[in-house]
Amino acid sequence: MFEKLEHLPDDPILGMMAKFRRDTSDRKVDLAAGVYQDENGKTVVLRAVREAEQRVHDAQKTKTYEGLAGNVSFNRAMQRLIFGESHPVINDRRVATVQTTGGSGGLHIVADVLRRAEKEPVVWLSGPTWPNHRPLIRGGDLSFEVYPYYDVERRGIDFDGMLGALDQAAAGDVVLLHGCCHNPTGADLSQGQWDQLVGVLERRGLIPFIDMAYQGFARGVDEDAYGARLCAARLPEMIVVTSGSKNFGVYRDRVGTATLVAPDADTTAACASHLANVTRTVYSMPPAHGAAVIDTILRDDKLHAEWLDELGTMRDRINSLRSRFSAAMAERTGNDRFDFVADQTGMFSILGLSREQVDRLREESHIYMVASSRANIAGVRQSNLDYLADAIAAVLKP
Ligand code: LMR
Repeated sequence: MFEKLEHLPDDPILGMMAKFRRDTSDRKVDLAAGVYQDENGKTVVLRAVREAEQRVHDAQKTKTYEGLAGNVSFNRAMQRLIFGESHPVINDRRVATVQTTGGSGGLHIVADVLRRAEKEPVVWLSGPTWPNHRPLIRGGDLSFEVYPYYDVERRGIDFDGMLGALDQAAAGDVVLLHGCCHNPTGADLSQGQWDQLVGVLERRGLIPFIDMAYQGFARGVDEDAYGARLCAARLPEMIVVTSGSKNFGVYRDRVGTATLVAPDADTTAACASHLANVTRTVYSMPPAHGAAVIDTILRDDKLHAEWLDELGTMRDRINSLRSRFSAAMAERTGNDRFDFVADQTGMFSILGLSREQVDRLREESHIYMVASSRANIAGVRQSNLDYLADAIAAVLKP
């Protein structure tokens, strides 16, 4: 039977990461996958994580199963990270959370719960969005719509287009939003735009589904949760998925959360039972290590402060690289075409290069980015900035 299977093309993001690893050039530059790198091109284990891992190791007395929801103490700590210490939705017992295998696992678990809650759920995706959103939440009975989000030509958010499209959505439709650090564009809604958007969601009876894979990478842990906290304060129902991959740097430990906010405590308890039941049918329960580590950090004042400090260092480095990249490109092109990169946040920006230019950068200069010209700015270094800017300027020449 397996001879019927055709070989599939590489994953658009992780396939590029694999190609980069195979490249033996010492000039190679990795701007492909959303993984933070320091000035030496290394993705190091955070100090707070190392210390927490030691504590978890020393304290561990058993390897017996966790429950279906994973680490319950971690789930509570994550609720406070998302919504803040004393958000009314937490006090009113309107939040149900399960630990998941990264943000990807969370997206998949939530999609299965949506199918149980609604006969034919419609999910609105931003145009463009992370390429794995669709496959992760796809299903025969679920359909997708796309709302305009980013205008590559104008290099900015098409906010009128976005609100116009969502004004056509039907009550009960689900709207997938990026909490911060929009992937792939790096263009985030301002607080004023969140305020307006929540007005539309409220008026149309739409349910926000917030992917918060990068909390803390744009402006700060609390600032980046503005949209999620506002939705929770104003709307009866919402969904949030988080990932520990980026902000705790525990990529391979696969830890995240799926959270549903419901109108009252009874409905929330029913939501929790479905989250746990779906988890059981997909992978039984999530792995323990990453959640124990993050829980240890969030519950200890010293480790928490150290983590926030390290997260701030990563954020500041990306923001300063953004400015330096824009300046280097302005110097070479003599125009402001790349100024937008300095104003965006998080790891990604779409550079606005053609497919052919992206291929040339890879083949001629060993510079790897996703075919859409999405570049991970955290892969730029002071030591390769000139090389990178020269190579981009060269492929732009007619
Ligand atoms: C990315 O967008 O590069 C990251 O989220 C990694 C991934 O799994 O695609």
